[in-house]
Formats: sequence, C-alpha cells, structure tokens
Amino acid sequence: MMAADPAAPLDFNLYMQGKYVYERNCIVCHGLRGDGNGEMSPTLKPKPRSFREGMFKFRTTPHGMLPTDDDLRRSITRGLSGTAMGMFSHLSAEELDAVITYVKSFSRRWRKAENHALAVPLPSPPEWFKTSVDLKTHAQSGQNLFGLNCAACHGEKADGKGPAAMALKDIWGVPAAPSDLRQPHLRCGDTPADLFRILATGLNGTPMASFDQTLTEAQRWDIIAHLMSIRLPSGPVLGAAAPTSP
Ligand code: HEC
Ligand code: HEC
Repeated sequence: MMAADPAAPLDFNLYMQGKYVYERNCIVCHGLRGDGNGEMSPTLKPKPRSFREGMFKFRTTPHGMLPTDDDLRRSITRGLSGTAMGMFSHLSAEELDAVITYVKSFSRRWRKAENHALAVPLPSPPEWFKTSVDLKTHAQSGQNLFGLNCAACHGEKADGKGPAAMALKDIWGVPAAPSDLRQPHLRCGDTPADLFRILATGLNGTPMASFDQTLTEAQRWDIIAHLMSIRLPSGPVLGAAAPTSP
C-alpha cells in the first residue's frame, strides 16, 4: 500500500460530511477547533487530544511520523480503553473516512510529504508464546530487561510508579503518567502484537520512545512475555478492594 499522497486535492464532499460527523460525535471533547478543548474537556484525564499539532500516539508508522488512515480507524472504532475516548463502532465505513479527513484538516503537518510514512512491518509473536514452559523462561529474562529499560518510568512492578514518573511531561504540557502495564486492558490493545507495535513505534508526543534501535526483537518479545505474565485478571473491579501486591 502507498503512503497517503499529501498533494492529493481535498475531497470537499467528504470533508463536509466529516465536519457533520465530527460535530455530532467528537466536538464535545475534541472541540470546535480541534484543540482538545471541548465542553467535557476540563473534567477529563487524560485530556482529549488536540489535533492541531498533528501528533498521534497509537500508530504503525515509525516514531515521529503521522499515523496511517488505518491507525486512526483503529483508535476510533476500538476506542482507547481506560480513557473517555469510547468505541465509535456505529459509524459507517464512509462516515469513518469522512471524519478522518476532517480530523486531518486541523494540522498542517498532514500537508508535508516528509511527515508521512508507511506502516513498519511487524512480526507475529514467536511460536514459544503457545507453550507455557517456554513462556515462563522468556518471561523471566523479560523481567530483567524490564528492570533495566522500563522500570525507571513504569516502576519495577510495572504499576506506573517508577522513580522518574512524576517528572514526565508530554508535548501538550501536561504530566505524562507512565501506564500501569498490569491493567487487563491497555489503550494500545491487549495482545502481544499490540505491545510489540508500541515498542516498535513509541507514542508520539510523549516520553514513551521507540525501542526499535535499543532492544533486539527477541528482547522485546521477552519483555512482552513478562508483561503478559503479570497482567491482572479482567473482571468485576467496581467496588472490589484494590488488588494487594505480592
Ligand atoms: C468523551 C470524550 C471523547 C469523544 C466524544 C471523542 N474522543 Fe477522541 N479522544 C478522547 C481522549 C480523552 C483522547 C486522548 C487519549 C490519550 O491521550 O490517551 C482521545 C484521542 C483521540 C485520538 C488520538 C489517538 C492517538 O493515536 O493519539 C483520535 C484520532 C480521536 N480521539 C478521534 C476521535 C474522533 C474522530 C471522535 C468522534 C468520532 C472522538 N475522538 C470522540 C476523548 C474523546
Ligand atoms: C522515559 C520514561 C519511559 C520509559 C523508559 C518507558 N516508558 Fe512506556 N510509557 C511511558 C509513558 C509516559 C507512557 C504513557 C504516555 C502517554 O500516553 O501519555 C508509556 C506508555 C507505554 C505503553 C502504552 C500502554 C497503553 O496505555 O496503551 C506501553 C505498552 C509501554 N509504555 C511499555 C513500555 C516498555 C515495555 C518499556 C521498556 C522497554 C517502556 N514502556 C519504557 C514512559 C516510559
């Protein structure tokens, strides 16, 4: 597939349809000007994204690059678990295309070819993910690697409380809390492949970098095995006592 052509003329009808979809579904949070300052915004944490900087966290493209349309489609239809951004699964394929066109109109970054990139090829999880004994061995090695590469921010227990956590900010000037990686549902998705994608691409605009150059593919899968092994069960948590740490 080709990267989107930034020089292609804007499809005006699609843009107008997108404006309509946006005003009915997105404006309360993302705001009239796409700056993230909608009516509901002041009460929300994390804050709704401003689209004006053209920075998107959840992508298949290299760090710093714009997302593909499929990336935006994934965030919009699946929602971002644990945030106010719900699943917009009721939108038709055409409405989705339209609202994506409209979201892109908020930032000039979309008009420059150098900000566009193709999705990076992402491997499938290794076979050993299917064998519990192997998974355990790899998870042990992953725990070490996690301590060395991730714990400063995410904490030794992956609960998001590393020593550096409090000092982190994102480009929107708000504190960037490292995710509690034990949660049963993460914004990026829950599968090993979803985690691998984050380690390959990083989250633009935040201190969460890409580990493409710093960790080998094998090391990344080991860390992911560790994260799968400490994941908290999903289930009724409302009103339940906070899980006690081991
Ligand atoms: C109730 C509030 C709310 C509504 C309504 C809402 N969003 Fe969001 N949206 C959010 C929040 C909060 C985030 C930021 C999550 C984060 O930074 O982790 C977000 C983030 C996003 C992102 C950025 C994803 C990324 O990779 O960084 C996109 C794209 C997006 N929303 C599109 C939409 C579209 C399109 C609609 C309407 C169809 C919509 N949102 C409606 C709250 C909302
Ligand atoms: C410099 C601090 C820092 C380091 C080091 C770091 N992270 Fe992060 N990470 C963050 C922050 C901050 C976020 C949340 C960013 C946001 O959305 O604002 C995050 C988010 C994530 C997410 C996305 C979770 C979600 O909610 O979807 C994953 C997965 C993740 N980190 C894994 C790792 C792993 C694995 C390592 C080590 C290889 C690591 N991180 C190293 C700061 C860091």
